[in-house]
Amino acid sequence: MRLADLSMAGKVAIVTGGGQGIGRAICLALGRAGATVCVADLDRGCAEAVAGELRAAGGESSAVQADVTREADVAEMVRVTLERHGHVDVLVNNAGGASGQDFAIGRVENLRERDWDDTFAVNVKSTFLCSRAVTAPMRQRGGSIINMGSVTGLFPFPGMPAYSAAKAAVISLTKSLAMELAPHVRVNALAPGLIETERTSRNRRAEQLIQLLSNVPLGRMGSVEEVADMALYLASDAAAYITGTVMEVGGGQVWMAENGHPAFRDLGIRRPS
Ligand SMILES: NC(=O)c1ccc[n+]([C@@H]2O[C@H](COP(=O)([O-])OP(=O)(O)OC[C@H]3O[C@@H](n4cnc5c(N)ncnc54)[C@H](O)[C@@H]3O)[C@@H](O)[C@H]2O)c1
Repeated sequence: MRLADLSMAGKVAIVTGGGQGIGRAICLALGRAGATVCVADLDRGCAEAVAGELRAAGGESSAVQADVTREADVAEMVRVTLERHGHVDVLVNNAGGASGQDFAIGRVENLRERDWDDTFAVNVKSTFLCSRAVTAPMRQRGGSIINMGSVTGLFPFPGMPAYSAAKAAVISLTKSLAMELAPHVRVNALAPGLIETERTSRNRRAEQLIQLLSNVPLGRMGSVEEVADMALYLASDAAAYITGTVMEVGGGQVWMAENGHPAFRDLGIRRPS
């Protein structure tokens, strides 16, 4: 399939954390391309609202309430998807974030054990559990798994040790799974940078944003749609020869940091007060 012909008609996708932010945008992008979308989220109301939006636009969609850090919820999410829609072709392991949903959770001396465990559970354990749960059904027809990393998983930022380590683990897991599940299932990761969502706009003060953007060559935040378009591409057969990759959607942030660009600064990120 060529990019110009991209269609997800006949495909069934599960998107975790699909109820808001980047996950919601991915659900809408997949749905617009013709996929049947199972919107899975901890928050039942959000998941149902997105599934309703997709159905109102003429698509097929269902909502599942699931905590993807729990094995039993994940098994139920996949069982319900198979029962309602017959198969699963795409899994987007999008649920994640920093514990407490702050963009920064503090330097190592202030990091609580609970923050560390929660951050690894929602980002890494969930990716393992959900990927394992779709492996058998996907092996039958082929499939695509997309994991949500972060630029911090490629280049750790000071002030975010647990989140950065968790996203680096997600990226490493992506590569292990890509090797193990080939040739039937492709596994890739996205590494978004500063993306504008309701949560990020709520949590960041204006002066922090100006500081953060000074490390972004393209000089602006990315949109959820820009991340969703990359997820759609990796999910589709247009990316049939791509596996084990990490695609940065970060306005050049990682390139700038890795090349020791003099403009890249340690911003001393701390939990917003
Ligand atoms: N927004 C950014 O700037 C940014 C940048 C890089 C990476 N990311 C990553 O992208 C992903 C989505 O981020 P976002 O900013 O859209 O987040 P968000 O907080 O706006 O939305 C996350 C969604 O996931 C759901 N969720 C949380 N824990 C869950 C669980 N245990 N089980 C099921 N659902 C759960 C929430 O209910 C929510 O609907 C995350 O993995 C995040 O780490 C975001």
